[in-house]
Amino acid sequence: MTVSYKELGLSNTKEMFRKAMEGKYAIPAYNFNNMEQLQAIITGCVETSSPVILQVSSGARKYANQTLLQYMAKGAVELARSLGSNIPITLHLDHGDTFELAKSCIDTGFSSVMIDASHFPFEENVALTKKVVEYAHDRDVSVEAELGVLAGIEDEVSHAHSNYTDPNEVEDFVAKTNVDSLAISIGTSHGAFKFKAKDCTKNADGILVPPPLRFDILEEIEKRIPGFPIVLHGASSVIPKYVEMINMYGGKMDEAVGIPEEQLRKAAASAVCKINIDSDGRLAMTAAIRKVFFEKPGEFDPRKYLGPARDELVQLIKHKNLNVVGSANRA
Ligand code: G3H
Ligand code: 13P
Ligand code: ZN
Repeated sequence: MTVSYKELGLSNTKEMFRKAMEGKYAIPAYNFNNMEQLQAIITGCVETSSPVILQVSSGARKYANQTLLQYMAKGAVELARSLGSNIPITLHLDHGDTFELAKSCIDTGFSSVMIDASHFPFEENVALTKKVVEYAHDRDVSVEAELGVLAGIEDEVSHAHSNYTDPNEVEDFVAKTNVDSLAISIGTSHGAFKFKAKDCTKNADGILVPPPLRFDILEEIEKRIPGFPIVLHGASSVIPKYVEMINMYGGKMDEAVGIPEEQLRKAAASAVCKINIDSDGRLAMTAAIRKVFFEKPGEFDPRKYLGPARDELVQLIKHKNLNVVGSANRA
């Protein structure tokens, strides 16, 4: 049975992005796969009065089950309202790779979808994006597309450079597709190992500092499509506190490096209206769970380790909204 996101109490991203552009902040887009993550995201956003995009990858949709997910999203809205909050909540497909997946999400209550055809040649990317936009816009659903490919950890630097978004393509792409927002590649990448140590410098605390994002490319893109909402993927900071905790309590994550917070603050004040965060949430939860397992090896009640993991995630969400993306008190 087809369900519109409107019946679930969700919002598309139109108004969110308009306000974010005007107010020079970004909307946080947090990935979730399970109940504890969803509870933490909603709690953190309600407590900071922040609009929020709940992101679901195709892997997460399989993991959580697409039928259950619809009710989880409805439950997230109901939870926020029961806490006395009216924050706008979007349910977004992250990295959708086919028309069929995007359509299925739209038909089951998503209010926004990403169609990621960035690995295809330009015209194929345009054609697939356009097809999704036509289906989505008929139902008042927002669409994000991508131009340029985010560097992978295995990529050579020279190869990574050739994958940055080409500012010469953005105007044509947006005009041809009628898409609502555009993810770009300016030096971020997915996961907890975004840079090789050899490409970083060390700060006074011995923390690895990666090469800066290519703000020159972002500025050039802004000139070509003024006022158009830009999206940053791969924007976790890989918070050193959590990496240290993980390593201290039996984990092994050497040389994990992310995007420094001041660079994300700078991006949020520009045309970047959506900042994607998944890895930092994973690290916060894993650090908290490892601590419990290390300190209480006999613990086997999931609430006793998932509970602290959820609490830690609430703190992370509040920190991001208040100090990084700037979405606190903007709902
Ligand atoms: O960009 C990808 C997101 O971090 C989702 O990751 O495919 O492992 O759910 P996933
Ligand atoms: P991180 O891996 O940096 O958290 O990026 C997440 C993301 O871009 C989801 O689409
Ligand atoms: Zn992504």
